[in-house]
Amino acid sequence: MKVYITRRIPDVGINMLVEKGYEVDVNPENRILTKEELIDAVSKKPYDAVLSLLTDTIDADVFDAVPTAKIFANYAVGFNNIDIVTANKRGIVVTNTVATSEEVAEHAVALMFALAKRIVEGDSFVRHGDYKGWDPLLLPGINLEGKTIGLIGGGRIGYKTGRILKYGLGMNVIYHDVKQNEMFEKDLSATYYATIDEVLSQADIVSLHVPLLDSTHHLINKERLALMKPTAFLINTSRGPVVDEEALVEALKQKQIAGAGLDVFEFEPKLTPGLTDLPNVVLTPHIASATAQAREQMSQIAAENIIAVLEGDEPKNKVIV
Ligand code: GLV
Ligand code: GLV
Repeated sequence: MKVYITRRIPDVGINMLVEKGYEVDVNPENRILTKEELIDAVSKKPYDAVLSLLTDTIDADVFDAVPTAKIFANYAVGFNNIDIVTANKRGIVVTNTVATSEEVAEHAVALMFALAKRIVEGDSFVRHGDYKGWDPLLLPGINLEGKTIGLIGGGRIGYKTGRILKYGLGMNVIYHDVKQNEMFEKDLSATYYATIDEVLSQADIVSLHVPLLDSTHHLINKERLALMKPTAFLINTSRGPVVDEEALVEALKQKQIAGAGLDVFEFEPKLTPGLTDLPNVVLTPHIASATAQAREQMSQIAAENIIAVLEGDEPKNKVIV
């Protein structure tokens, strides 16, 4: 069996595949392959499986380049980079790595604290030598205790984010998803709203935890930003295109909302002009799942999924749309 891995990942999963006796080729360059390079690489051998990253666009052209591949194991919980419909039509299995809910939930909360306590502004103030002594009016923040968190997306990551905020800070949890998740009501005393607009207008912090689908593209747009409180923060640790970034920059400039914490960007790694000029945003480079432990687990899970499919078993994390 032959496996192609599009970029270096932690060894644990690679070793599992090698121990199975599979021939494993890893992209030797530590960078994202272009579409042409990816097609060239996967068509070199009749690979049985491809381990892809969220930065690889996997579409019909790539499937055509490696018609022997039975599985594309994506090294991510997100799978918007893969044309699942075409994969399903061709009988190609797509899997993801469900390992990273705590990491992403904690990162979302870290972005909330960073904004509320003005951590990044404060850090840069001190580093630039501007701190001349204690000042009663310097960089006032807000408390999170007792505030309302509006979760958009009622899955595992949204749930864990809500749990930290409910039990750590006594926040009131409200949420929206296409369907209700009774764990939110039962464990977090959360209130479900069938429309996103109600959540946006009531929440002090809005945190996005939806997959990127056609239906969630620009879910947060100009009109929806206008529904948010002028004191509210928007947190995005999901996928950049869920937010119309140009509209967000405008809303932040106009102080229509108070701030944004973003780990993902609409055109990443490119940033919408104006974003980095705003003091009321905190930006991190898509690292919400970047704990060493999660990245190793992801490697292991991707390998397990590949092994399952190549041994004729059902993989644990098959993506179905
Ligand atoms: C990271 O963004 C992931 O989808 O795992
Ligand atoms: C602040 O440092 C205070 O003592 O109130």
